[in-house]
Amino acid sequence: MTFPIFRTVAALRAQVAVWRGQGLRVALVPTMGALHDGHLTLVRQGLKKADRVVASVFVNPTQFGPNEDFAAYPRREAEDAALLAGAGASGLYAPSVTEMYPSGFATTISVAGVSEGLCGTVRPGHFAGVATVVTKLLLQAGPDLALFGEKDYQQLQVIRRVVRDLDLPVQIEGVPTVREADGLALSSRNAYLTPEQRAIAPALHGVLTALAERLAAGETAAVLTAWGRDQLLAAGFDSVDYLEVRAAEGLAPLERRSEPARILVAARLGKARLIDNIPA
Ligand code: PAF
Repeated sequence: MTFPIFRTVAALRAQVAVWRGQGLRVALVPTMGALHDGHLTLVRQGLKKADRVVASVFVNPTQFGPNEDFAAYPRREAEDAALLAGAGASGLYAPSVTEMYPSGFATTISVAGVSEGLCGTVRPGHFAGVATVVTKLLLQAGPDLALFGEKDYQQLQVIRRVVRDLDLPVQIEGVPTVREADGLALSSRNAYLTPEQRAIAPALHGVLTALAERLAAGETAAVLTAWGRDQLLAAGFDSVDYLEVRAAEGLAPLERRSEPARILVAARLGKARLIDNIPA
């Protein structure tokens, strides 16, 4: 049987209605494609909690800034569909930009608090774009649960806030980051790295790990993040957008480890802007 690809909201909803009629639980894995094992882990996790998993692939223009990589973002639908089928997904939702944002579209969901700072400072408008498209995807698919990677930790917090605030009837599941053997978090943007840059990139995870240990030993966030920035630049990163210690829930800045924390980083290496985070 060919792997189903739904291009319209109506086609997706018709299929989900059939599954619901059969009493099946449905999970959604929203993605922008160029799938890797991190995404396929979300599908596999979804299959543990639902009978059917649909992944969406939509490179969402509204979450990219004017000078960002929307045009260059890798698009490989046929490969993605084959990977999803292999991982046990039941279909791919791949709407066009006009299906998602028909002429006259005028609504934006913006989330105060958790969208501010970190990626929200460096990428103005990014989280409003994410919150809007994810809300639409959730309303279009109507899944029982939706799964997101913890690599985009701030995004996960924004989505949880939207779902709580708008009473969306869906369970949000965060899934731990999948890493290469040397610690580099899997990301579609790793494809932008040259072999030399690829050798530098694991320093991101190395610095986060060292910071988590030193934070647990009682050192202050200010001292540690200054040290971490120097380490990243010395390792070969071009610049560091941020390296911060935040509360794991709500993302308030922390000066010491007084509650469960998250250390988050974004740094630039050639054409790639890499983000990562770990619990602390
Ligand atoms: O994490 C992503 O791939 C995207 O931000 C998402 C959640 C699919 C929204 O476009």
